[in-house]
Amino acid sequence: MTGKFGSYELRQELCARLNTTLPAVAAPMFLVSGPELVTSVCRAGMVAAFPSLNAVNSDELSGWLGDIAAGLAGADDAAAVAVNLVTHPSNHRFEDDLAVCIKHKVPLIITALGSPEPVVAPVHAYGGLVFADVNTPALALKAAQRGADGLVLVCTGAGGHTGAVSPFAFVSEVRQFFDGPIVVAGGIGSGAGIRAVRSMGADLAYLGTRFLAAHESRAVDDYKNMVVDSGFSDILCTAAITGAPANKLRPSFVRVGIDPDALPTKGKFDLSNLDTGEVKRWRDLWSAGHGVGAVPERESAEDIVTALKTGFAA
Ligand SMILES: Cc1cc2nc3c(=O)[nH]c(=O)nc-3n(C[C@H](O)[C@H](O)[C@H](O)COP(=O)(O)O)c2cc1C
Repeated sequence: MTGKFGSYELRQELCARLNTTLPAVAAPMFLVSGPELVTSVCRAGMVAAFPSLNAVNSDELSGWLGDIAAGLAGADDAAAVAVNLVTHPSNHRFEDDLAVCIKHKVPLIITALGSPEPVVAPVHAYGGLVFADVNTPALALKAAQRGADGLVLVCTGAGGHTGAVSPFAFVSEVRQFFDGPIVVAGGIGSGAGIRAVRSMGADLAYLGTRFLAAHESRAVDDYKNMVVDSGFSDILCTAAITGAPANKLRPSFVRVGIDPDALPTKGKFDLSNLDTGEVKRWRDLWSAGHGVGAVPERESAEDIVTALKTGFAA
C-alpha cells in the first residue's frame, strides 16, 4: 500500500515464516526465559523468545542456541525461536551477541531499548526477520522508518517495563502507517485474548506473565507461587525501581521489607538502606502484568500452550 510501510501480502508471508500454529509469542523475560522454556514452547508450536542477556556471556548464548536447536531437532512443527537484543549503546555485548545470532541464523530478532537499524541488514542477509519492541506510536513510526519488519506494541498492563497506551488505540494508530506484522503485548493470558488481538487488526499476541509460573521458567519457586496466588490488585506500576514505569508484584516488595505504598513517585528508590540484606532490583522485586490473575497453577509450558490453543479455537 503506497505511503505505508509493509504490505498485507508481505505481512502474511512474514508471519508464515514463523511457522507458528498459534498466533502468539512467548515474550522474552529477563532472568526468567532460557533454553528450557523456549524449547518447550517452540515444540508445542508457538514462537518463543529469550533475552540474549539472560546468558552470562556470548559463548553461553551460543551454547543455548545450540541446545535449543538440538531440542527442536526432528520436530518439524516447531515454531521459530526469537532472541531479544538490546540495541542501546549501553549494551556492551551487542556486537558479540549479534554475531552469535547471525552464526545460528536465529529466525527472529526482537530489538529493545534502541533502534532496530543496526540489526536489519545483517539479519536480512541470512533470511531472518527483525521486530522492534516499542511503547508509543511515535517510537513505532521511527522503528518502521528504520527498517523493522514487524512491531511489538507494548501496551498498558504489560509485565516488566510497560507501555501506557490502550491496545485498541495503539493498533489503530500504527495501522495508519504500517501494514507489516503487529504484535500486541500487555495483559494477554488466554486464547480468547489472542483471538481478540487478531480481531483488532494485529497479527500476533505477546505473552510474558502467562509463562512466569511454567515449570520450565527460571523464576524461583516463591516467585512462581506468588504469581499463581496473585490477581490484578497485587500489581503495582512504579518507576522507582529502574526509572521507567514497570508492573511489579506488590507482595514481592513486602517480602523484602519494602512498603509498596511508600515508594517515591519521582526518582529511584534507594535500596541500600534495607534491613533485609542485599536486594537486587530485578532479581528480588518481581515483575508481572495485569493479566497475572489468568495464571491458574504451576504447569508445563506444553500444557499452557495447549490451553491457549483450546481457548483460541473456542
Ligand atoms: C519478569 C519479566 C521480565 C521481562 N524482561 C524483559 C526483557 O528482558 N526484555 C524485554 O524486551 N521485555 C521484557 N519483559 C516484557 C515482556 O517481554 C512482555 O512485553 C510482557 O511480559 C508482555 O506483557 P504480559 O506480561 O502482560 O504478558 C519482561 C516481562 C516480565 C514479566
